[in-house]
Amino acid sequence: MGDYAYYNGRYGKYPEINVPLTDRALFFGDGVYEVMLYRGEVIYQFDEHYERLTKSLKAIGISRTPEARALRSVIYKLCDLSGYSEGIIYLQISASSPSRTHERVESLTYNLLVSVSKYSGYEDKALSLITVTDRRHGICNVKSLNLLLSVLALNEARAVGCDGAVFVRGGTVTEESRSNVSILKSGKLITHPTDNYILPGIMRSNLIRAAGELGIPVIERGFSISELYGADEVIISSTTKFVRRVSSIDGHEIKMRDSERFFSLKERLLLDYFDKCDA
Ligand code: PDD
Repeated sequence: MGDYAYYNGRYGKYPEINVPLTDRALFFGDGVYEVMLYRGEVIYQFDEHYERLTKSLKAIGISRTPEARALRSVIYKLCDLSGYSEGIIYLQISASSPSRTHERVESLTYNLLVSVSKYSGYEDKALSLITVTDRRHGICNVKSLNLLLSVLALNEARAVGCDGAVFVRGGTVTEESRSNVSILKSGKLITHPTDNYILPGIMRSNLIRAAGELGIPVIERGFSISELYGADEVIISSTTKFVRRVSSIDGHEIKMRDSERFFSLKERLLLDYFDKCDA
């Protein structure tokens, strides 16, 4: 039992895996990643993650994605080694170069890092968040390794005893440092459109689909901080969190007035996971 990783052909426990300086992830964050869940024998929504990975790679000028079959087989082996019945898969693809030079020469060799860690299951507790100015780059739709501003935002939240930070760009709420943000207001789900300022979250898509199935109208538009504070529910969504409701932002209490819709959405999303994985 334990966290295991794979790097360019080698398997081992975390401390046993060494990454060479030729991996451009180290100097430049020159790569992309995905985070998925598995349960039992099933990698949940692998195809959706694979499709986004391919798009992210293309966006950074890497035209080749490792074959899905090859990735799956590495993941399955890691799942076996780890012994976890439910886990978090981290998958990273980065470019290589023989020395530290900004220029990346299109080469046929890319680094593949995959790891598996324990997933401790869905957590219910409502979250307290802060807002921070979104100073990130303009390609937030790419799941890039450059996460410094997300790290700083989360640390800022932790420093004041909060769980996360919501980015605000020019008065518009974009997303949270590690998840998407949506609100429920007057029975409607409002969420930022998928442009270059947010990551097109897989769970965000699931949430939109679930809302459709439940007859909840979905509006994809940016919303302001005051709409955030005044929402009936603020919902954050991500692969590992599914959906979590928010109880306060910047010290303002979020009223959590639409438990019924929130819990129906949450139930659908969790059921889909269990149905697909335990089938
Ligand atoms: N984070 N927005 C950002 C900035 C994210 O980092 C994530 C995911 C999401 C949600 O995407 P998805 O629903 O596909 O997980 C949105 C992952 C989990 C991470 O970096 O660990």
